This record gives sequence, C-alpha cells and structure tokens, in this order.
Amino acid sequence: MIPRVTATVDLAAIQHNLHVVRGLAPRSRIMAAVKADAYGHGAVPVARALEAAGVDALAVACLEEAMELRQSHVIAPIALLEGVISSEEAALAVYERLQIVVHDHWQLALLEALPASAQLSLWFKLDSGMHRLGFPLADVPRLAETLRRHPNWKLEGWMTHLACADEPDSDVTPAQIARFDAALAQTTGPRSIANSAGIIAWPQARRDWVRPGLAIYGCSPLATHSAASLGLRPAMTLESRLIAVREFDAGEKIGYGGTYVCPQRMPIGVVAIGYADGIHRAFANGTPVIVNGRRVPLAGRVSMDMITVDLRGAPDARVGDAARLWGADLPAEEVAGHAGTLAYELFCGLTQRVHFRHLPAPAAALRSVNRGV
Ligand SMILES: Cc1ncc(COP(=O)(O)O)c(C=O)c1O
Repeated sequence: MIPRVTATVDLAAIQHNLHVVRGLAPRSRIMAAVKADAYGHGAVPVARALEAAGVDALAVACLEEAMELRQSHVIAPIALLEGVISSEEAALAVYERLQIVVHDHWQLALLEALPASAQLSLWFKLDSGMHRLGFPLADVPRLAETLRRHPNWKLEGWMTHLACADEPDSDVTPAQIARFDAALAQTTGPRSIANSAGIIAWPQARRDWVRPGLAIYGCSPLATHSAASLGLRPAMTLESRLIAVREFDAGEKIGYGGTYVCPQRMPIGVVAIGYADGIHRAFANGTPVIVNGRRVPLAGRVSMDMITVDLRGAPDARVGDAARLWGADLPAEEVAGHAGTLAYELFCGLTQRVHFRHLPAPAAALRSVNRGV
C-alpha cells in the first residue's frame, strides 16, 4: 500500500543542525528541545539521532514525554521543562534520573516532601520578563538557601526564557538578560538563556547551556534569515500526490465557497492532503506547493482530505505525481506565513493519518558530526 501522505524525516539533517548550533555556541552545552514528539518529527528517532551525535541533554515538556524516551532506552540527560505536578511524578522523575525544572513554590513543596535521601537534579527557572513560568527574580536568595538545606539536591543550573528573541531590534531581550544577570550576581551555578532565536541573534545569551528547538529541525527562527543562510537543513519533507487533474473554463469557481475563480481556461490539480492531515484551513489562495519541481499556488479552500492547486505553472503534471507541501526546497517557515502561523505549529499539527518515514543518518555522516568536522 502506498501511503497517501508521507512525512520523511532526515535524521542526518537533525545531526547536521546540532553541529551548526555547536558552531554558533562552541562554549555552551546543548539541551535540544524534543518536546511535543520532537516538534512533530518523532521523539524517539530524533532523540536517538541527537544522542548518537553527542547532544548534552534533551528537553521535554512533561513526564509522559520523558517516559517515552526512557522506555525506548534513551539514556541522555532529560529535563522536564514544566517540572512535575504531583509527588508521584516527582518520585518517578527522581527514579528515572530526570532533571526537574522548578518554576514555582508549589513545585518546590512537592520536592521537599520527598525523602531527604532523594538524589534530585534540578533547574530553577526564573521569570526575567516573559511572565509565563518562573520564580520572581527576587526569590533567588531564598532558592539558594533552599539548596543549602538539601545537600542531596544537585543544581543543574538557572534558566530563563526569552519572550522576543526573534526580534533582533527589540530592547526586550537585552533587558531580560540584564535582569537575569543582576539577580544571579551573587549566586553560583550554570546559566541557560537562549532558545534557537537567542542562540542565533543574541550572542550574549549563549551561556553555559543553550536550548535550541526549531533550529535542530532545520528552520530559521528569524524572519530576517533563511535557514539556508544559517547553514541549517530542513529535516522534514511533507509529500502527497495528485489524485485528479482537470481543465476548467474562465469564471469557474473551485472548492468550498468558490473562493478561487479561474481567470482563464486552466488545469486544476487535486492533491490528497487536507486539514485532517494537518494542513491548516487558514492557508490562503497562493500558498506554494511543489509539483514536479515547480512551485504552483493553492487555488481554493483547504478541505478535510484534499487541496486544489493551479497547475498552469506545471502543465506536464499528471495524476500520481508527487506534491510537496514543505521540505528542503520549500521552507516550512515560508509556507506557515501563508496561514498566519509558524513552522512550529505546522509540524506539531500533523495528524496520525500522516505516515512517517525516518531516514537513518549514514554512518559516515555520524562520524564527521562526532569529530566535529
Ligand atoms: C523553555 C524553553 N526552552 C527552549 C525552547 C526551544 O525554543 P525554540 O524552538 O524556539 O528554539 C522552548 C520552546 O518552546 C522552551 O519552552
């Protein structure tokens, strides 16, 4: 059976992108974000590829995600970015040697209720201005004091998250960094500030640890830089195929609501992919799709199982030809812009109907990554 829609994930590209991040932050250790099923790329194969390429740690959102990795024998350090939500979770996190990111006093209380002998490994998350998760900066002395009371607790470091790292002209990021540094001026322990955009756009945010996500998957987090210009290789290609090619006269309306009106007699192709596969209904007419190596525009509304495309630019297109929604020659971040969203959401929005294929990293590529070539 030929899969209808296939997401091909190139694990060599994942390893290559890890290497690119290493080049940008050579003095930092790398905690790669593999939460949300590795941004929809497949947590286990991606984690294994990153582990094989020498990643220093992995980050997931919650215990369930970490357990999936541990049960698949991923042994790299794993941080729980949202920490734990119950004493049972806290105990299991300790047992599985997970790093717990603690962002609030109620979580601290859960950890303090564990047996004093529990060997905890934790990060303290500080709110330097994003106002999502994190202790107020003024709590740092109290947190340091808590650590002194618990000799079995290992502090992995202090982390904060940047709200506007993808805006290189914004003064928010320097202010967040300055506040974080000032709050920790009297305190020891590793620091971590930067996500992908922070790593690329804000060299002063590259501290003891960096936490790339999007860049690992080969996307640029910055509107001002393409992935290619940063040396990143898109890891995912999403493809389906044409299941109908028909000619329509000028004035004929295509699809639900008839939002596309044929300006002349022209070929319209139907591609077997729709919002039930994760292609947002918000994609506008004109969103590019690649058919036979040529970009053709979406023509008409996305429906549950199909999209329609204007094939005037690919007149040789036939039923059965591949249609690419994103990949190396059509960046997901560019496509996302046509639905007013980001590549993050496109990747995470792929549904169970999509068939995943993971291309293993060739041994030669792995060797060169390990050698840092
Ligand atoms: C705390 C934290 N660090 C790092 C990341 C990675 O961010 P990005 O994918 O933008 O590199 C995320 C992602 O949301 C995050 O929540």
